[in-house]
Amino acid sequence: MEKLKICGGSRLSGTLRVHGAKNAALPILAASLLPGECVLHNCPRLTDVEAACNILAQLGASAHREGESVVVSGGGDCCCCIPDELMRRMRSSIVFLGAIIAKCGWARISLPGGCELGPRPIDLHLAALERLGVEIGEDHGYLDCRVRDRLHGGIVTLPFPSVGATENVMIAAALAEGETVIRNAAREPEISDLADFLNACGGRVRIAQNGDVRIEGVRSLSPCEHRVISDRIAAATYLSCAAITGGELLLTGVCTEHLSAVLPCFEEMGCRIETTAETIRLEAPKRLHPLRCVRTMPYPGFPTDAQSPLMAAACLADGSSMFVENIFESRYKQVPELARMGADIKVEGRIALVHGVRELHSASVHCTDLRGGAAIAVAALAAQGESELLEIGHIDRGYERFEENLASIGAQVRREA
Ligand code: UD1
Repeated sequence: MEKLKICGGSRLSGTLRVHGAKNAALPILAASLLPGECVLHNCPRLTDVEAACNILAQLGASAHREGESVVVSGGGDCCCCIPDELMRRMRSSIVFLGAIIAKCGWARISLPGGCELGPRPIDLHLAALERLGVEIGEDHGYLDCRVRDRLHGGIVTLPFPSVGATENVMIAAALAEGETVIRNAAREPEISDLADFLNACGGRVRIAQNGDVRIEGVRSLSPCEHRVISDRIAAATYLSCAAITGGELLLTGVCTEHLSAVLPCFEEMGCRIETTAETIRLEAPKRLHPLRCVRTMPYPGFPTDAQSPLMAAACLADGSSMFVENIFESRYKQVPELARMGADIKVEGRIALVHGVRELHSASVHCTDLRGGAAIAVAALAAQGESELLEIGHIDRGYERFEENLASIGAQVRREA
């Protein structure tokens, strides 16, 4: 099992280019099953992206990497099953359901896996697809989904703006007969990126002023080239790394607008932030200030995925910070690991109170999930001594060349077998 060894205490300084967004690339890879041939630029090298490419191969398409791009080739017949082993590798594999049904008219997939962030049901995905004419049955941990004739459009009102459910419906509805309207749809930038991709393939997707997503079904989609948007969560993580070390960082290749709920938090912590549309410069004070209250919310609110790295930075602030997690249960799994490094955090239900301490110390710590793992790395960068991070496979799901990036801005970090 590989591990990361991080010797804390170096002040990070330099420039990093942020990679393409995992959460945009995955649904777009799923949707690329429909046109068959596509070139996706700025597609990050991540194990989750590899898993999506393996699923495409299982479904009769193929995907290979050419530098920073992934080329998807159609292949012939679509196999409509995703076996358990592939589904378990990541929860977002559920986003292939809409694509398979749109392409084949039926699908058999096992229930998905992924980060264990409390119960992560897929009821919203299934209820929404039923509105488009999908009949769904369950059989020994597998979902059997079928369309009688052709998918048809419909009005889908989501009780919660689920990102994955919105994406699944958008993809399925792209080839349905008639118009689909998704009310209370998610508004994350990854949704707009998926809409842009589908439209580049000849789809007809429109995001209305009120946030409704309107999809007019077309007969077929055609190949396109698309550039995946930049990863706002990776950006927030690297900013947290620089902030906790009192460092200075220039991020390039970002979409600053996507971080509009995140950057004010760093300013509140005393960091100087300068932005252009595609760059963010952060200069951290010697000691960070506490955060009054960070509440995770659907976009454009503060993203749940950035909560744990920011919390790690708050562990060394000169006062107490409060976090309220409104999206997922069990999103504080990093807390016991941070406590092993000397952090003082009290969790009660959705609320976490972080009492800043003067210093953190090194420890042997487990990465609990993708963003929890990133949070532990943030803390280790400022801890006294050398920390050992175990189960770093979680980090590799979402951060491209994590340790090389950190080392390039002055961190003492190495991967060990
Ligand atoms: C996506 C992101 C994830 C991010 C999350 C919220 C990807 C690959 N993952 O996950 O990184 O943290 O958005 O921004 O894009 N829910 C239900 N029933 C459902 C679906 C969701 O109850 O059928 C609940 C979930 O349990 C959770 C909340 O809705 O509490 C948000 O989930 P959702 O927006 O669907 O997140 P994901 O698409 O899984």
